[in-house]
Amino acid sequence: MPVLPTSGRLRWTDVPAPLRARLEDALGAAVADAVTPPGGFGHQLAAALRLADGRRVFVKAADDDDPLTAANLHEATVLGTLPPGAPAPDLLGIHRAADWTAVAIAHLDGPHPDLSPASGDAGQTWALLDKLTSSPAPAAYTAAVSTTPSTAATLHGWAELAADPPTDLDPGARTHLPQLTELEAAWPALAHGDRIVHGDLRADNMVRDHTLGVTFVDWAHATTGPACIDTASLAPQLVLAGHAPADVARLLQDHPATADSPETTTAFLVALTGHWHRNARRPAPPGAPGLRAYQHRAAAAGLALVGYRLRP
Ligand SMILES: Nc1ncnc2c1ncn2[C@@H]1O[C@H](COP(=O)(O)OP(=O)(O)OP(=O)(O)O)[C@@H](O)[C@H]1O
Ligand SMILES: [Mg+2]
Repeated sequence: MPVLPTSGRLRWTDVPAPLRARLEDALGAAVADAVTPPGGFGHQLAAALRLADGRRVFVKAADDDDPLTAANLHEATVLGTLPPGAPAPDLLGIHRAADWTAVAIAHLDGPHPDLSPASGDAGQTWALLDKLTSSPAPAAYTAAVSTTPSTAATLHGWAELAADPPTDLDPGARTHLPQLTELEAAWPALAHGDRIVHGDLRADNMVRDHTLGVTFVDWAHATTGPACIDTASLAPQLVLAGHAPADVARLLQDHPATADSPETTTAFLVALTGHWHRNARRPAPPGAPGLRAYQHRAAAAGLALVGYRLRP
């Protein structure tokens, strides 16, 4: 059984001593303290370690029975194969002891970006996505992600909701259930492509580093796919951050990653929104407080955008 915290994340002291010693040995200094940044819903260790010599290193760790270890190893491979200049931190190393695995990543210094209309961070993120998806992924990256199924490609929810519509389902969604189900069914066939896909873009999976600017972290769901996935994923996040849905809908129409593929973009957005609507209503998983409440908010934001893309 994976080791789970009773609430929130595992702490540095929850990591078995042999792995802590292995890390300190590999990093060349003792760990002076460990800070768990806010954000995310995972239960594993994800902490900024401050070393006795003042350096900082970001470490994710879980026991090897925990599916998060496979996800962390996938992320490590991805970080090692992204093209130069990609908005991602460097991989420092993978360390194993006592049937646990830790991935050490270069520490980014700064807060999560502010995606609200008052900040320039959303514009910067939008521009990063254009750059990231304007050419095909490098061969090494494509090979690295090819052995892990794309979670983006399997997003769905509307068919299940249509089979037994919940009483609290948004009336707009209820009216359009046949169309939403049809669009979501089209998504898996459209989900293939040769571009880099981060696959889980939210403000808490980005850091606005004081030197590098907005940088994407948590590449555990990275895959290849059509250029539109990350840009369409970011759109509901902008709505959650206070942008008017009409403004975001227009941005989505104009962005280079989504403008040329309106059908694929709509199918993805519908599938993502269906996933949120369905999952928000499921029992909360252990070790992920706040996830269902977030999914309810994201479901509403996604639906507001979907409304601009459906046939009347
Ligand atoms: N390289 C880094 N440097 C500094 N802080 C980071 C770095 N990578 C991630 N973080 C911070 O740590 C938090 C958790 O990291 P991350 O999202 O990678 O963990 P996770 O367990 O996979 O998260 P999730 O709960 O989203 O699945 C992020 O929200 C971010 O604030
Ligand atoms: Mg995260």
